[in-house]
Amino acid sequence: MKTPNYCSVSLLLFFGMVTAGSAYDYSGFGGTSSPPVTAFAVPLPIPPVLAPTSSDATTDYYDLTMQVGQKEIIRGKLTTIWGYNGMFPGPTIITKRDRRAVVRQVNNLQESMSVHLHGGHTPPESDGLPNDLIGPGATKIYTYPNNAPGSTLWYHDHASDVTGRHVYMGLAAFYLLWDDFENSLPLPKGGQDIPLLLQDRSFNSDGSLNYPLTDSTIRTGVTGDRLLVNGAVQPYLQVARRKMRFRILNGSNARIYKLALSSGVSLVQIASDGGLLAAPALRQSISVAPAERVEVVIDFALYPVGTSVILKNLDNSASPAIPDIMRFDVVAEAFDTSSVPATLRPFTRIPESSATVKRTFTLEQSYQNGRNLWTINNKLYDPARIDATPRLNATEVWTFENRSGESHPIHIHDIEWQILDINGSKPPSGDDGWKDVFLVPAWGKLRVIGTFTDNIGGYVSHCHKLEHEDHAMMFSFQVLP
Ligand code: C2O
Ligand code: CU
Ligand code: CU
Repeated sequence: MKTPNYCSVSLLLFFGMVTAGSAYDYSGFGGTSSPPVTAFAVPLPIPPVLAPTSSDATTDYYDLTMQVGQKEIIRGKLTTIWGYNGMFPGPTIITKRDRRAVVRQVNNLQESMSVHLHGGHTPPESDGLPNDLIGPGATKIYTYPNNAPGSTLWYHDHASDVTGRHVYMGLAAFYLLWDDFENSLPLPKGGQDIPLLLQDRSFNSDGSLNYPLTDSTIRTGVTGDRLLVNGAVQPYLQVARRKMRFRILNGSNARIYKLALSSGVSLVQIASDGGLLAAPALRQSISVAPAERVEVVIDFALYPVGTSVILKNLDNSASPAIPDIMRFDVVAEAFDTSSVPATLRPFTRIPESSATVKRTFTLEQSYQNGRNLWTINNKLYDPARIDATPRLNATEVWTFENRSGESHPIHIHDIEWQILDINGSKPPSGDDGWKDVFLVPAWGKLRVIGTFTDNIGGYVSHCHKLEHEDHAMMFSFQVLP
């Protein structure tokens, strides 16, 4: 698989040597749409769970190979993807709190990669930083201590400047961390606990992925015109009349979703990025920005057999708008012993008064290298520069001030945070739990509070619209002992 154009275009753009209307052929971009598809024509695929290669008293060892794969996404056509073990999405890793996972990643692709465990409380040497690259043919071993509460994490590529294209090609997968407390709750489990990876993609007429990186999409982020759930276009899922848990991950490069059910029934949110909420949150709709995770329980016992319920996307800010995500078809009766407890995981709000340091980061475009690029504090990402040096165990308040008309999902590596306020108001319930991605509204201001536990060393924080991250809305921070 060769993508010389993508590669050189992205590098040239990064260095500001290509201007709009250049001779590059962004074939398929600008009005050309993907081959037609029929919604709700294919069943929802569930990514396979990766079995450990070996295990001992403390640790499970996994092996993954990043390689080219092929998949029928558009009917009758084969799409070349890049995937963990050649699969899109990659295999799901399921691990338990305080049990170590050691993942050996072999890179059989022709570009350098970095594997980040998003949401992981991971020492820097295994965090998958943008310049900690695995060259073509090389191997890296990542060690994850998993010393955190149960939550829905994901692993994805994080290579400097090209993360957007790498993830778009398929390098993303679930990593589910569970713990005994969560397991003791009567929530739906096993086959009733289903991960849903939402991603939009565009395709060329031969079925190949079309990643339209242009001067304009660097600013807006790349959005596709087809909606994929677990790698299938707008699938359906047959369900019985019972409760089911869905772990929803927005793995899109830039598209924001506003989830709702076509029946008008509220979603029962039980978890956010960092795991279970204090109590379930009843929400008419839930906005999910790139890299955010929300977990919901849907009770299909509310509908008679024969009913279909569509998971809708009410957000129409991206073009084209895609209003239907997937369809649930209620096909059978069931005996359901699961329930959603009125309280989930005990949660302590960090008092703002416990913060010893406050930092502010501005989000804006600025003129750099002859063009407008996304920056933080007016600076492009430079791995050699450190913009914040929190102390181990310090509690800090970070303010993100958006000086642009576009929202930015800001992500911070290493720890989970609590949102203090958004434009001065408390976050809506459901967004008031543990978070590592926060959507900073256009021209708005968002404050988070967090404590830097366990890990020392260098990390990054960045916008998770992946084209913004690549060009070059990211900064480093270093946790000092
Ligand atoms: Cu999901 Cu630094 O990224
Ligand atoms: Cu991350
Ligand atoms: Cu951004």
